[in-house]
Amino acid sequence: MNYLEWDDSSVVNHAKIDREHKKMVLDVNKLYNYLRSNKTEKANKLMVKILDDLKQHFETEESLMLKSKIPQYISHKLEHERFHKKIKDLLSKVEAGKETLTIDHLKVVKTWFFNHLDFKDRPLANFLTEHNIK
Ligand SMILES: [Fe+2]
Ligand SMILES: [Fe+2]
Repeated sequence: MNYLEWDDSSVVNHAKIDREHKKMVLDVNKLYNYLRSNKTEKANKLMVKILDDLKQHFETEESLMLKSKIPQYISHKLEHERFHKKIKDLLSKVEAGKETLTIDHLKVVKTWFFNHLDFKDRPLANFLTEHNIK
C-alpha cells in the first residue's frame, strides 16, 4: 500500500531532483509498510538509510543552488537543515530506545515533503531550467 503518492503533480521537471524525490517517496512507502506490519527492526534500519539519502539529496540541491546563484539559497538551505535535524534527533531517540517510530512520525514527513517540494524545490527546478543547469 502506498502512503505517499508519486504522480505528475510531484514532478518538478529537473531529472536529477525528480529521481531523488521519487526514490525518497518509494522508501517512505516501504517504511510505512514496515511500520504497519510491526517490522520494527527493518523500519529502524530503513530510517537510517532514508536520513542518509536525505542528506545527500539536500547536498545535491544545495550544490545546484550555488551553481545557479539562486537568491533563495539561504532560506532553502535553512529548511533543509531544520528538517534534517528534526529527523536526526528522532532517530537518535529511537536508537536510544526513548521513542518508537510510528505512522504519526510519517505524517510529519509527508506534510513537510510536499510543502517543501511546492514552495522551495519547484521554484528551484524552474530557475535551474531557465539557466540550463542539469
Ligand atoms: Fe529542497
Ligand atoms: Fe528536494
